[in-house]
Amino acid sequence: MPTAKPSGRAAVHHPVFARAYARFSVGAEPRIGPFRRQLLRGVSGRVIEVGAGNGLNFAHYPSAVAEVVAIEPERVLRQLAVSAALRSDVPVDVVPGAAEALPVKSEAFDVAVVSLVLCSVRDVPRALAELRRVLRPGGELRFFEHGRAPGPAMTTAQRALDRTVWPLLFGNCHVARDTVGALRAAGFTLGPYRRVLVPEKGPRLPTSYCVLGTAWRPAED
Ligand SMILES: C[S@@+](CC[C@H](N)C(=O)[O-])C[C@H]1O[C@@H](n2cnc3c(N)ncnc32)[C@H](O)[C@@H]1O
Repeated sequence: MPTAKPSGRAAVHHPVFARAYARFSVGAEPRIGPFRRQLLRGVSGRVIEVGAGNGLNFAHYPSAVAEVVAIEPERVLRQLAVSAALRSDVPVDVVPGAAEALPVKSEAFDVAVVSLVLCSVRDVPRALAELRRVLRPGGELRFFEHGRAPGPAMTTAQRALDRTVWPLLFGNCHVARDTVGALRAAGFTLGPYRRVLVPEKGPRLPTSYCVLGTAWRPAED
């Protein structure tokens, strides 16, 4: 299925963040794992997962999934994703590439998956246009993303972080992005989605404001 190697411009290189994320994310699985399960419940057919990281979603794909093409641009995380793919119950092909230029054919997938990725891509409209391109008409996008807080105080803090240290420290992560607005602007039809706090209890972090749900590429597209 992969059709091209990622260009130099598409390369993502955050080795320090990647190593830290690999450790932190495994430790956070007791809290994040239930959201991954909900994200992938009922998924079937051919799936593309973009920004697969170290492959923590792979264990949650239902057996009705025929194949997952897992795109990951960061070399350290991609190597860990390859190991996770070997342990997966469903076939997973880990492929280098970036969301803004997916190295796959158009309309080739029934389902696309993004989790905690749209915060980090360089160009959200372009990444969403690519996701729409590779989904078949009527295909489904499952998303679990953190983003903009509802209240003005936290939103102001999030914007300040996005302009300063946060993207530098956390692999180009931004905390004030509006996933639902971006999906609508990209022409997706919003399916059921809900806002969740992560962690559900305790202090609110700039990354606590998550959205989990489904959007569709319109059938007549
Ligand atoms: C916070 S991690 C999330 C990883 C994984 N999706 C998960 O749920 O644990 C962000 C991921 O986005 C990836 N990423 C960053 N920029 C990207 C881009 N332009 N295209 C695709 N993936 C990207 C990173 O390499 C990393 O794997």
